[in-house]
Amino acid sequence: MTNWCMFAFTPNVDILHMSYMRILSGIQPSGVLHIGNYFGMMRPAIALQAEGEAFYFIADYHALTSVRDPTMLRENSRRVALDFLACGLDPERAALFQQSDVPQVTELAWILSAVAPMGLLERSHSYKDKLARGLAATVGLFNYPVLMAADILIYDSDVVPVGKDQKQHIEITRDLAVKMNETFGSEPDGWIFKLPEPRIQAATEVVPGIDGQKMSKSYGNNIDIFGDEKETRKRVMSIVTDSAPVEAPKDPSGSTIFQLYSLVASKDEVAEVREQFQKGGTGYGEFKKQLFEKLWEHFAPMRKRREEMLADRSYIDNVLARGAERANEVADQVMKRVRSAVGLR
Ligand code: TYM
Repeated sequence: MTNWCMFAFTPNVDILHMSYMRILSGIQPSGVLHIGNYFGMMRPAIALQAEGEAFYFIADYHALTSVRDPTMLRENSRRVALDFLACGLDPERAALFQQSDVPQVTELAWILSAVAPMGLLERSHSYKDKLARGLAATVGLFNYPVLMAADILIYDSDVVPVGKDQKQHIEITRDLAVKMNETFGSEPDGWIFKLPEPRIQAATEVVPGIDGQKMSKSYGNNIDIFGDEKETRKRVMSIVTDSAPVEAPKDPSGSTIFQLYSLVASKDEVAEVREQFQKGGTGYGEFKKQLFEKLWEHFAPMRKRREEMLADRSYIDNVLARGAERANEVADQVMKRVRSAVGLR
């Protein structure tokens, strides 16, 4: 029996008092997944799937704000599903689906946008960052956090595992939930939406890229989870360092190499490399080689699983179809509540 059966949805407001936790997160299919996605969101999300009822989705509606090639959007969406499953998402525990298979979420986004203060969205860092990077100032880009709030609220989510860059989006979600509850919540319950909590891992809240800035597909500083060996080695070997000579002691705390190494090595290995940094006598090139070996080894079982899954195309289709079915069940229940609360039929 899957968790879905155990947690069959009760269409009654008492879900607030049920003891299980709803976990939700999303990832955009706007490119190839990198190790910042993995350590910042996928690994924590996979760990959480054992602790409650999880909903993880491929945010293809969101990706439309930046991807203009339909073939690429479709291919990337499939690849995100494949990569997430290969990394350990268990479809018996977590519903994996495409955002656009639950189109009710766009209806909720519209309803939320009717109460969303302009000023709240104008303060969005990610909107400003995207404009600064040259993306066109579309209504979709501006409204991005409202759709994200709808994603979260439509599943009555309790916990949202994300990297630090998504924190403000979850704060906006909470603000919109409060606004809806205040505006439309009626006695005796006085609520429509739960207030979700972000779950951000301190050690991996911002995984650095090869230039030391936050790793991001759009900065071109990414190391991909399933990049080929030659390319991955090349990316690791081009991590930017200071110019300390081989013999000089080096500061591990400010080093991207050390930070990435800490994510994949054991405690003892990390302690040993820290000592080598501080002692001097080892060059950055040598540390980079050690990092590459560890990274390659870390993702080896996942690469193997991915190869196996590639052989069976229908597997991913089935997983996504089952995930969408479960997601729709919950979204329909919540939308019934929302439509009734705001006065729609
Ligand atoms: P996206 O696709 O940019 O990234 C997916 C997840 O990966 C995390 N992440 C990182 N974490 C640490 N260090 C990094 N360098 C790094 N790069 C990426 C992100 O924080 C994110 O958790 N808006 C979301 C997608 C989304 C969503 C949602 C998430 C749509 N609706 C609802 C949660 C809930 C996004 O663009 O993520």
